[in-house]
Amino acid sequence: MCDDLIVLGVETSCDETAAAVVASGRHLLSSVVSSQIEVHRRFGGVVPEIASRKHVESVIPVVDEALRQAGVTMRELGAVAVTYGPGLVGALLVGLSAAKGLAFASRVPMVCVNHIEAHIYANFLAHPGLEPPLVCLTVSGGHTDLVAMEAHGRYTVLGRTRDDAAGEAFDKVARVMGLPYPGGPALERLARDGDPEAIRFPLSRVADSPGDFSFSGLKTAVINYLHAAEQRGEHVSLPDVAASFQRAVVEELCDRVSNALRSHRPATLALSGGVAANGAVRGALRAVAEAHGVAFVCPPPELCTDNAAMVACAGYYQFVNFGPCELSANACPGADLPQRRPSAGVEVTPGHGAHVHS
Ligand code: KG4
Ligand code: ZN
Repeated sequence: MCDDLIVLGVETSCDETAAAVVASGRHLLSSVVSSQIEVHRRFGGVVPEIASRKHVESVIPVVDEALRQAGVTMRELGAVAVTYGPGLVGALLVGLSAAKGLAFASRVPMVCVNHIEAHIYANFLAHPGLEPPLVCLTVSGGHTDLVAMEAHGRYTVLGRTRDDAAGEAFDKVARVMGLPYPGGPALERLARDGDPEAIRFPLSRVADSPGDFSFSGLKTAVINYLHAAEQRGEHVSLPDVAASFQRAVVEELCDRVSNALRSHRPATLALSGGVAANGAVRGALRAVAEAHGVAFVCPPPELCTDNAAMVACAGYYQFVNFGPCELSANACPGADLPQRRPSAGVEVTPGHGAHVHS
């Protein structure tokens, strides 16, 4: 390990422009997040072209502020880590171009980090003693991935969503209920005043792959329930709908995680991604881990939603174990978790080609 390596992280995959400085992989020196939520709110969701333009305006001031707060200059950096995907292509290209420019001008190596992998690594930043192997559930606006992490940078996917991500379902249901964007936090607040047992929404099962998730049926059931009540002129308790929907999401997440803990018997269950900021989700998965005699870790809410600290932490481990990336690396909006074969010294990352390290 490189105990004094300082990494600058840059994150622009969706609607947060973020930069952070992390020393020795897990020591957070600064984390700056400039959110575009207010800009996108009147459209009810992220407008990709506007997101790209806002990233262009913010990325350098945000990087400057992260370096200033950390008391670190570009010359002191050991690497620049940047998200290359998955995400919005125009948004990703802004961060990637900025990172290339910074790395080239400062003669610092660049590491291209997978956004889902970065979410997993938020746990390593938050829990200094944490080491793989572990099982991690990442629940965000774009992904619902249950993976076994065997070693740093090595993953086996145990289950993932076949349609909507958990956060996407939260956002779409919230929108139909007239809640402001982003819907997840607003729906959680509303659910606090509701009865989670009031309405039994159907739970999904993916017949040919019981480890996978599916949330579009649940989302449609909630929307149909609201429309049917409106047509009949019936009063609906929105807090009850929110609480019952949230309970159904939690139940599905707990069911798949429970099966994975039973079959994989990991020492630790980790949770990550924006939906992991939800108190009901955190509480229920902690209880599942306890029931299986498994340790539970989850980052604090500010490291669950998009940030660059998790990118810097993941970048540190990637750099130390697999080396830097070429400055010709490209953004990859549909990137999956990387397939790495460290024994052969070869890393294959979508969109980058293969890099052979001696
Ligand atoms: O990880 P993230 O910041 O961005 C992506 O990589 O997608 O996750 C954003 C998602 C959004 O769908 C948002 O509504 C959801 O996380 N979210 C929540 C909560 N906070 C954020 N969902 C439910 N409850 C919350 N408290
Ligand atoms: Zn994310």
